[in-house]
Amino acid sequence: MIKCTEGLAIKSRENLESVKILVVGTGGREHAIVWALLQSPLVTQVLCVPGNGGTALMERCQNLSFRVDDFAGIARFAEVNGVSLVVIGPELPLSLGIVDYLQNRNIPVFGPTRAGAQIESSKTWAKAIMEEAGIPTPKSATFTDLETARAYIEQQGAPIVVKADGLASGKGVVVAETLQEALTAVELLFAQNYGKLLIEEYLTGQELSVIALTDGKTIRALLPAQDHKRIGDGDTGANTGGMGAYAPAPLGTPALMTRIQNEVLEPTLATLKRRGIDYRGVLYAGLMITPNGEPKVLEFNCRFGDPETQAILPLLVTPLVELLLACVEQRLAALPPIEWKPAVSTCVTIAAQGYPGNYERGKVISGIESANTDGTIVFHAGTQLKQNRVVSDGGRVLGVTSTAPDFASAIDRAYQGVRLITFEGMYYRQDIAQRALSERL
Ligand code: AMP
Ligand code: GLY
Repeated sequence: MIKCTEGLAIKSRENLESVKILVVGTGGREHAIVWALLQSPLVTQVLCVPGNGGTALMERCQNLSFRVDDFAGIARFAEVNGVSLVVIGPELPLSLGIVDYLQNRNIPVFGPTRAGAQIESSKTWAKAIMEEAGIPTPKSATFTDLETARAYIEQQGAPIVVKADGLASGKGVVVAETLQEALTAVELLFAQNYGKLLIEEYLTGQELSVIALTDGKTIRALLPAQDHKRIGDGDTGANTGGMGAYAPAPLGTPALMTRIQNEVLEPTLATLKRRGIDYRGVLYAGLMITPNGEPKVLEFNCRFGDPETQAILPLLVTPLVELLLACVEQRLAALPPIEWKPAVSTCVTIAAQGYPGNYERGKVISGIESANTDGTIVFHAGTQLKQNRVVSDGGRVLGVTSTAPDFASAIDRAYQGVRLITFEGMYYRQDIAQRALSERL
């Protein structure tokens, strides 16, 4: 880890044959982004703010000890050290305006501005965009006081979904099975000082994550993915950040992806443009595919999904650096179609005992090197390098991604990797990507 107050004397980029990239974030998603960027020989160095144990161990990658909201420190470092591109991983710095800050200093940055990031940071704002764009999304209403919200819930009945308006680290959505649950949820969320709530029609179906890259004019979807949000096998128990993912999700057939492009991605981008927002970065649609095959948007995110990214990027053939630079420089339309390996992938999250509740950190992890073999990559999420040993440092600790020609082999390979890894209290789901086996390819 470089002590950032000391600065670093790195030569400026002289031409496009050497690109130095700074990646902001600390999770499995960021490790996967760094890994994918470094697949290109064009990328001479990646700096990760603050990174994790995995990024610390990579050749041509160095962790920097800035906080993700230290915009001034990050900007100064980028300027002094000739960074060609800054890539923002998580939603928090995006919603705080890191992109606006860097753009004002002429530092090329991948990610939407604060105005664009509202698509994730405000559920009511996102809903207004969806309605203006005429895109398929569940019916909803916005509330700013408890009594009116209660009356609406009683009139609508359960099941019903209650969503807090601001960023809530995945804890702001309550899918209420009963009236009582819904009423308790609105009370609790208002008491937690969320000034605005969205109450939404409950939908059944299968969820699909479509992560798209845009330069503000053109938008291109990556491979569709599915994640596993619940902690327990068979999608049971508490919601988590994501216990595993797979790609390409068979549910996202070419016909469905065309509909999502035309009915969701394009109209959303056009609406953002109409509102004067120059949106460059990731637009991630969290969709429910209803039993009759309709894609309906449950939410938008303004960044790459985690752990979907760990499943998607190992399948990418087109260099990620080219795609990200094309977004920032508004030349996505001129690029050839995104190229993918003719393979599938499965990513299994290994979590700490107790996650998503309380868990301990600092457990020594072994077996990562043996698991990192041909066809398998161990992405670090909550880890740290301490005295040359990798120790756990978060709830989701690792993500083991395997690629193979078919899902049966990818699943088998990923779990072989998982079984080589040990640390005290490690937990993982046994059924990641099983759904892909039962769906037609
Ligand atoms: P969101 O952050 O809006 O994606 O919500 C988190 C999770 O809650 C989603 O991934 C779904 O599993 C569930 N969810 C959200 N909205 C709905 C809805 N309208 N109907 C059913 N489930 C929902
Ligand atoms: N995997 C869900 C998310 O990144 O929001």
